[in-house]
Amino acid sequence: MTVSLDQLRRCHFAVDLGAARTRVYVKGAGLVVDQPSAAAVNTRTGALMAVGEFAEQMTGRTPSYIRVVRPVSGGTVVDIEMAQRMLRHLLGDPLRRSLRRKPRLRAAACTPHDADPLAQRAAIETLVGLGARRVELVDTLVAAAVGCGLPVEQPEASMIMVCGAAATQIAVLSLGNIVTAERVPVGGEAVDRAIVQHLRHEHALMLPSQSVRPLQVALSGNGLSPNGPASTEIQGRDVATGLARSVRIDTAAVRLAIQTPLTGVLDGIGKVLRDCPPDLVADLADRGIMMVGGSALLPGFDQMLRQATGMPVHIAERPDICAVQGLGAMLEGRIRPLNLDTLAA
Ligand SMILES: Nc1ncnc2c1ncn2[C@@H]1O[C@H](COP(=O)(O)OP(=O)(O)OP(=O)(O)O)[C@@H](O)[C@H]1O
Ligand SMILES: [Mg+2]
Repeated sequence: MTVSLDQLRRCHFAVDLGAARTRVYVKGAGLVVDQPSAAAVNTRTGALMAVGEFAEQMTGRTPSYIRVVRPVSGGTVVDIEMAQRMLRHLLGDPLRRSLRRKPRLRAAACTPHDADPLAQRAAIETLVGLGARRVELVDTLVAAAVGCGLPVEQPEASMIMVCGAAATQIAVLSLGNIVTAERVPVGGEAVDRAIVQHLRHEHALMLPSQSVRPLQVALSGNGLSPNGPASTEIQGRDVATGLARSVRIDTAAVRLAIQTPLTGVLDGIGKVLRDCPPDLVADLADRGIMMVGGSALLPGFDQMLRQATGMPVHIAERPDICAVQGLGAMLEGRIRPLNLDTLAA
């Protein structure tokens, strides 16, 4: 493990600050927060109007003096003060009070695989502002692998793919460590953007951001695979006139538009496999790839990977919360590390 499990067992709470969602696990209480990483601020007074689900619903619907901000971008906390305010509100008073009563509050957080020192510092500062005296950082890849039950501590290879909102991280793990890893800056947001751009170019239609997900669902049966419906009706706003309009769109063309950003993910998988020692690649051919993260739910994504790599592809049971559950398992001491004693000479 990248961080000592002993230190993690002493932590009282764990936070996964994602570009799309913030999740908090409190020792003994379980997952207490799973909300969008958004906050609505009154720009005249600086007051916080809403956080989480409420703030996200306000996106694009606010008067000019209310702004919906996202303190986490690309997997990094970019606005530490706002992230702290958001977390305080998401936790709520009773929980914060009970955490504050701990004599030496310790926190754990997961950070992206290639987080630079500045990004790590930002995550630590955010939690220090919440009262933590010590913060342990865990690689998201390790946390997610533990969370979905992969045998990370065993001397056999596991391949994990964390499909987040801002990026996709791919790694091969063995003996509790990352053997090779790659971070591709393509995630759920890039897929949503590809759909919006396609409709704008091909149909001169502007789509409200909230309806991108329903569109993906409409394409399912199964989204990226060709056995869904041939066309679907979609509501939007005409780019030129600004009036509401509905058009019938060809699902195959949307699938193609989605596939373009996803080829970057395939390149990432290829690179990880090329950098991996041959013995481990043999393990992987049997065990396949485990997909976690919210974007693993993109309909047909797993099928596309299966076709492109020829390897078995599995989706974790609750892919979106794997990373925070992995942190939780470490906090509760549910992880049994493999004991590698040095042999007597
Ligand atoms: N059912 C679904 N179908 C398709 N995409 C989905 C679904 N549910 C969630 N997503 C996508 O998953 C992404 C959120 O995933 P996740 O919660 O893992 O992100 P995050 O942890 O906040 O991001 P990151 O780890 O990149 O910082 C969003 O971009 C969302 O569009
Ligand atoms: Mg995440």
